Amino acid sequence: MYLDTSSDRTDFTWMIKNAVVPRPIAWIGSTAADGTHNLAPYSYFQLVTMDPPMLMVSFTGRKDTLDNVRHTGDFVVNLVTEGFEAQQTDTAALFDADVDEAALLGLATTPSTVVTPPRLAGAKVALECRATEEKAMPGATLVFAEVVGVHTDDTVLDDRGRIDVERYRPVGRLGGALYTTVTSAYRIPVPTADAVLAGHRSGVLAGSVADRTTGTPAPEAQIATVSRNPRSKPVPSDDRHA
Ligand SMILES: Cc1cc2nc3c(=O)[nH]c(=O)nc-3n(C[C@H](O)[C@H](O)[C@H](O)COP(=O)(O)O)c2cc1C
Repeated sequence: MYLDTSSDRTDFTWMIKNAVVPRPIAWIGSTAADGTHNLAPYSYFQLVTMDPPMLMVSFTGRKDTLDNVRHTGDFVVNLVTEGFEAQQTDTAALFDADVDEAALLGLATTPSTVVTPPRLAGAKVALECRATEEKAMPGATLVFAEVVGVHTDDTVLDDRGRIDVERYRPVGRLGGALYTTVTSAYRIPVPTADAVLAGHRSGVLAGSVADRTTGTPAPEAQIATVSRNPRSKPVPSDDRHA
């Protein structure tokens, strides 16, 4: 099947929404001019640069969250994880601006460190963000923000202090009312060009019991990262674009 801009608009956009998945869900805490706190989910959201760490959220139409971010200049991204799927959905209901969704749903909050809105006490990870730029797009407003602080629940960390995704169990959106939970992970380190040319393809490395957090290949895989070609540099052990 091929669809394009001349196709039925709903079919076209649904195909794309269902294909580009899963999308992480930013459960955004913000604060209004009158001090009312707000909580709502946003899945047109992504990390867009690594250092400094910047993210982007896309707002369609008028949203309390966007109004609040414009007012205070900051917000909190609570990442949605297993156990919060239904509550995050409840906060997407169209409440009046004077409703504090976290309070309404009995979700405990705790003060953030440097930004105005509180974060969710139960969030496994919460990112404190300062908005840096707003861009009007056809049909949406994009907000770019720098992540200035990250709170991580110790229960999702491994013994090196890195996030273990199997403990973290993030929830992603699959389009519409469909969701997924990440419950397992596998590692495939990127080999050098020489290694690939020599037949040491990534498949050789797949499934190796490598260090999950640093990208350091397991001993049996390291042979594939040895290179004599100066243009074919070994992948840094902490794979900075991971
Ligand atoms: C999982 C999920 C993801 C959503 N993602 C977005 C999004 O990226 N952009 C958007 O404008 N609305 C999105 N929505 C809809 C908003 O959450 C909804 O309009 C909400 O009422 C906005 O609340 P607010 O006005 O308090 O900010 C999403 C809803 C759900 C359930």
